[in-house]
Amino acid sequence: MVDGTREQGGGYHGGREETSSRQGQHHPSARNQPQQQQSSHHHQQQQAQGYGQQATSASRNVVNRPLSATASSNVLSPTPSNTSSTSRKTSSRYNLSDFTFIRTLGTGSFGRVHLVRSQHNSRSYAVKVLSKDRVVKMKQVEHTNSEREMLERVRHPFLVNLWGTFKDTKNLYMVMDFVAGGELFSLLRKSQRFPDPVAKFFAAEVALALDYLHSLDIIYRDLKPENILLGADGHVKITDFGFAKHVPDITWTLCGTPDYLAPEIVQSRGYNKSVDWYALGVLMFEMLAGYPPFFTEDSNPMRLYEKIIAGKVRYPAYFAPEAKDLLKSLLTPDITKRFGNLANGSRDIFGHVWFQEVDWERLYRKEIPAPYVPKVEGDWDASNFDAYPEVDLSEYGNMTGADPHGHLFPLF
Ligand SMILES: Nc1ncnc2c1ncn2[C@@H]1O[C@H](COP(=O)(O)OP(=O)(O)O)[C@@H](O)[C@H]1O
Ligand SMILES: [Mg+2]
Repeated sequence: MVDGTREQGGGYHGGREETSSRQGQHHPSARNQPQQQQSSHHHQQQQAQGYGQQATSASRNVVNRPLSATASSNVLSPTPSNTSSTSRKTSSRYNLSDFTFIRTLGTGSFGRVHLVRSQHNSRSYAVKVLSKDRVVKMKQVEHTNSEREMLERVRHPFLVNLWGTFKDTKNLYMVMDFVAGGELFSLLRKSQRFPDPVAKFFAAEVALALDYLHSLDIIYRDLKPENILLGADGHVKITDFGFAKHVPDITWTLCGTPDYLAPEIVQSRGYNKSVDWYALGVLMFEMLAGYPPFFTEDSNPMRLYEKIIAGKVRYPAYFAPEAKDLLKSLLTPDITKRFGNLANGSRDIFGHVWFQEVDWERLYRKEIPAPYVPKVEGDWDASNFDAYPEVDLSEYGNMTGADPHGHLFPLF
């Protein structure tokens, strides 16, 4: 499948002139502000033409409004152990002095992710830091414990790997592999939009990862180009399990990113795994068009939500008919018709004609060459990530002060 032209560095622009890369101001502070109700939407102020030219991934925030109290009944032992627990592949036995902090790689709504060097093996890792205070204020305690628990459980070529966690009196730390190729978001904005085979390659790898998560009854719930990283080899690594949750049947929490919310989430109805397949449709559309299907010119999220519920999509004429056909089956508000939610489950998606040339076994084994190989020079090259103002790290690693929230995070 997808043997699109490979390219080193730069954007993947399918033969068009490369436009400027992300030159807009960065909004790391905005990126740290989770939106409790609706997200103010930077992107929506922009015309479809040139959509997102100023955007950094910092500008698209998440929504999170818990609609029902959800108790986590499945808490793993808080005690680090190297033998007894079979379900534990990670460790809590790290601490801050094991790492040297090099620079910030990204900030999201709740966390800041740093490139670090391990004192033990001198290798590079990415450490996500969450302030306990902030997590509590944002009502993200359940989600944060779930993030750690879900990351712990998964192992897949297209999902980021968690090595372990630790905490101090103020913060929680998650140690992951450093995924050096940067966000798919950056590549997409640089490229404006992807040629069909390129979008197909990324959509196919993401689909395998989602299908794997669903096989474990995990809903991911925050699919978007900001959370999809590229390895140095150009293959996908999904990060950010902040909203991932074990859901065998249905759940009600309103969370995710406005552009990517399925209509049933917007309408506060119970929803299931098929919200991830809907989000795959939004991702496909955004990769092919350069803007998501329901963006509005004003920044009024209510207008966005109305459009999501109405579900009327304008397909650009340059979309392949096969892509459009699959998109219709993914973006339908009618969950009794949505692919991924029917009797055949995800097979309807994997077997769709748009994916016809995909050899799924080879794709899983990373034997399909990636369409774009990021420029990565050595283990410490973070140049595929935006630069962020650094923060004062002197608060990191404090083991003595008061820790009023410590008991809320038994998994760290
Ligand atoms: N393992 C990683 N390697 C490199 N960069 C990462 C990694 N994990 C996250 N990042 C960067 O940090 C950003 C924020 O991390 P994320 O987990 O998405 O936080 P949030 O939950 O706040 O959105 C990501 O969008 C990405 O740019
Ligand atoms: Mg994120």
